[in-house]
Amino acid sequence: MSHPSTTPVKRRELFNSRNVFILAAIGSAVGLGNIWRFPYVAYTHGGGAFLIPYLIALLSAGIPLLFLDYALGHRYRSAPPLALRRVGRKWTEALGWWQVLVCFVIAVYYAAILAWASMYFIFSFTEAWGDDPAGFLMGEFLQVAETPHVGFDFVPQVAVPMLLVWVITLVVIGLGVKRGISRANVVMIPLLLVMFLILVVRAVTLPGAVDGLNAFFTPNWASLADPAVWAAAYGQIFFSLSVGFGIMITYSSYLRRRTNLTGSGLVVGFANSSFELLAGIGVFAVLGFMAMSSGSEINDVAAGGIGLAFIAFPSIVSSTSAGPLIGALFFASLVFAGFTSMISIVEVVTSAIQDKLGLSRVASTLVVGLPMAIASMLLLSTTTGLYFLDITDEFVNKFGILLGAFAMVVVIAWVLRKLPLLQRHLDRVSSVKFGKLWLALVGVVVPIVLGGVLVSEVIKHINNPYGGYPLGMLGVFGWGMAGSLIVGAILLALTPWRRSTKQVVDEDALDAKYEEIMQK
Ligand code: ALA
Repeated sequence: MSHPSTTPVKRRELFNSRNVFILAAIGSAVGLGNIWRFPYVAYTHGGGAFLIPYLIALLSAGIPLLFLDYALGHRYRSAPPLALRRVGRKWTEALGWWQVLVCFVIAVYYAAILAWASMYFIFSFTEAWGDDPAGFLMGEFLQVAETPHVGFDFVPQVAVPMLLVWVITLVVIGLGVKRGISRANVVMIPLLLVMFLILVVRAVTLPGAVDGLNAFFTPNWASLADPAVWAAAYGQIFFSLSVGFGIMITYSSYLRRRTNLTGSGLVVGFANSSFELLAGIGVFAVLGFMAMSSGSEINDVAAGGIGLAFIAFPSIVSSTSAGPLIGALFFASLVFAGFTSMISIVEVVTSAIQDKLGLSRVASTLVVGLPMAIASMLLLSTTTGLYFLDITDEFVNKFGILLGAFAMVVVIAWVLRKLPLLQRHLDRVSSVKFGKLWLALVGVVVPIVLGGVLVSEVIKHINNPYGGYPLGMLGVFGWGMAGSLIVGAILLALTPWRRSTKQVVDEDALDAKYEEIMQK
């Protein structure tokens, strides 16, 4: 198949080197999901036993799908809509837009948590929470409305840092892949690593830390029989590794033709999970200390759910002389980890719009960034923002990321039957060749497992409305939001491309090109 195109297409931007790509991919993967989300998800889904489904999810689906994303982005050199159109047909473009819209929704609430973390970094020095971190978080700081509803009462101390988060993110993205995204990651990721290691070492040497670690690692085996635990593990792995929602397709599209994809993916995957486990260890060591110093059970101090990180760490700041240092390190880590992920999430949307409309980087950053920032501020910097965040995070994970990834895998593997082509691509450019094992995992194991997880999630959500929220709110911000991702994706796929974009590629010419590269 070839497409006559006479207009020269602008060269795609590139990362400076494979190492910079690996840093950026780790930067995207290691984020709020690792530090803020993982500890509470693990804790509420069986503690130590959660690690088993988590590791199975990583090996059976996370890493294989990471490779799928890499193969798509690298081979078709475009953001998800164009990559999925090039691997398939006109209609498969909608699968790419689905992932782009998932990024839109995640960025909207991600900015809020980043803003909280930035404020808590400052609070670590002033101990603004006094002796009641939980009350401070929900009351004075977030001013959470007593009952879940939709309201537009703004909370200035959340709105102002959110605005800053958006400005910084958009400036970095506007500067481009080399000058913005690469530089931000090259600076922030090494710093993050150093800060986080100091933090975890300090945390595990606190009195009582062992009890916290026991609570974290003591398995509740019965939880393994609960499908919700498996769904949570797959949801966590996808969110955390940044797979299934376009980020890795986009980032790998900025790689040189000759790049070791699977080798890079293994480094990214294991770095991400190691960081996640470290975060779990750090947070639970702190919980152990808190429980010991307040004479209570870990269960009681860990009951913060979504606010766990914002309750546990403030408590420790106030209760030991090393507290301010621990608090500052923790919240600075959250900010750095969060920013590098936020950048990658917004980049997906920018890059997709740039491909489709042929705008300059700065123009597409503005076209994308302004509506996202406005939606984010309107929905999240209000007294009802926390409710919105909780519902949206749950639904976008399950019925955005997981369902979208399931649809993409089924279409590529079973409708288009393009997996062997992508497997040859991966094996041709990579050092570690997974061959048929990868085909079996992506083509058979992932659809079966994800299909099972999704069916059980739908049943669970129907029988037990999430979080006890009013059905109207779940209908709009949960089911409604998830449904509108699909409708929006179809509509976006129907809009025309800029005339100069070559929408289909000549597979034979591409293959010949890769052969040539490998022989050099
Ligand atoms: N992968 C990013 C995170 O873990 C989205 O937060």
